[in-house]
Amino acid sequence: MSRSAHPAGPRHADVLPEGHYSAPPADLNALDPKVWAETVTRDADGVLTVGGIDVKRLAEEFGTPAYFLDERDFRARARAWRTAFGGDADVFYAGKAFLSRVVVRWLDEEGLNLDVCSGGELATALSGGMPAERIAFHGNNKSVAEIRRAVEAGVGRIVLDSFQEIVRVAHIARELGKRQRVQIRITVGVEAHTHEFIATAHEDQKFGIPLAGGQAAEAVRRALQLDGIELIGIHSHIGSQIFDMSGFEVAAHRVVGLLREIRDEHGVELPEIDLGGGLGIAYTSGDDPREPHEIAKALTEIVTRECEAARLTTPRISVEPGRAVVGPTAFTLYEVGTVKPLEGLRTYVSVDGGMSDNIRTALYDAEYSVALASRVSDAEPVLCRVVGKHCESGDIVVKDAFLPGDLAPGDLIAVPATGAYCRSMASNYNHVLRPPVVAVRDGEARVIVRRETEEDLLRLDVG
Ligand code: LLP
Repeated sequence: MSRSAHPAGPRHADVLPEGHYSAPPADLNALDPKVWAETVTRDADGVLTVGGIDVKRLAEEFGTPAYFLDERDFRARARAWRTAFGGDADVFYAGKAFLSRVVVRWLDEEGLNLDVCSGGELATALSGGMPAERIAFHGNNKSVAEIRRAVEAGVGRIVLDSFQEIVRVAHIARELGKRQRVQIRITVGVEAHTHEFIATAHEDQKFGIPLAGGQAAEAVRRALQLDGIELIGIHSHIGSQIFDMSGFEVAAHRVVGLLREIRDEHGVELPEIDLGGGLGIAYTSGDDPREPHEIAKALTEIVTRECEAARLTTPRISVEPGRAVVGPTAFTLYEVGTVKPLEGLRTYVSVDGGMSDNIRTALYDAEYSVALASRVSDAEPVLCRVVGKHCESGDIVVKDAFLPGDLAPGDLIAVPATGAYCRSMASNYNHVLRPPVVAVRDGEARVIVRRETEEDLLRLDVG
């Protein structure tokens, strides 16, 4: 295929369509370390490499689309979370962001615990060798079978999400002759996303038991009476992709307030407090996430201060980062199939995946970056929209981004920061096969989740 510039390709200066973009970056070939995994760089030929392997070789061996996960980066981030809190807290990786048995092993080796929220995630965690006592089991509607399996396996904690579940778990544990350690998830009236948080009225959701109206206190009263469960703490999760710590501050204040009420009413000081996950990452150069050590310091200070004010012994803190561990560690590699310049608008770049491997843009209007990966280019930047191959116009991977004007079919492009909630939310829409996840480290690449095949699809279709 020729790599000549598009005849009628819109230039950035020509177009003013709505969108999130600003000016094109000074150097389109540069890789902002904020959004790319640690070992990603360009080789002497300008080809993107990860873990010492270039993407042309990776595409040849594993095909596209595919997620390439930088093992060194994953381990470094996991370790950073672990060491940030020292021995004073527990870090539970949120498996919903991305889970596979190899990842479970890395987490185990790096000293992290694991939060699961379904029977499938629990099975993966156990099969991957995570010791059951380091697993927390979440969910607003765990089935009886799931609860039974978790209790039998000996999970370290079940996070209770409703009045019915308090009784259900206590009953199942008693039947099994066990006393299950539990936390109660409460809603503290805080919802936080990115730079904003709202500290009223967000009890209106399916998760947790509202603090408002004394419901959480009533849940604690009931839990303390049941001998099948041992209440070890209170849990709160306030949102996703959060950069601003003030939402956590309000949440900690309210959770500690409940701990004080519990102490005053029951003479019991609960030993644990879980502040959930939700810490943000950089999807584009405009995002400025905090480092784990800053977050750990801030959270520890908030909880310690609140507890001192309430004259409580500071409980053991736990957190549940998912995105902030795995998100930045992977990119999705696509092959460009067609390039369609729309005069006065933008250029539509179609790739061989789409909303089936990254639903986040369609679902949340999420922003991503993108780079030409198989080569560098000096061509003028062109405003592009990277779209998938699905039969839906909302099938957008990267809404607005600048790519070189000589982009052509056969080029490889890479979308960074797709480690979290992309493979785990992938679908078979249009019977498109879900891509593999390939872990790369020190010149070696290995498939940790294989590509789906047509046989996989047909096996489920029993005819
Ligand atoms: N703990 C609890 C109880 C949670 O509900 C979640 C996420 C986490 C921890 C991990 O949050 P993280 O640190 O990964 O933000 N699919 C959405 C995110 C949904 C998150 C649901 N709960 C997305 O793609 O942005």
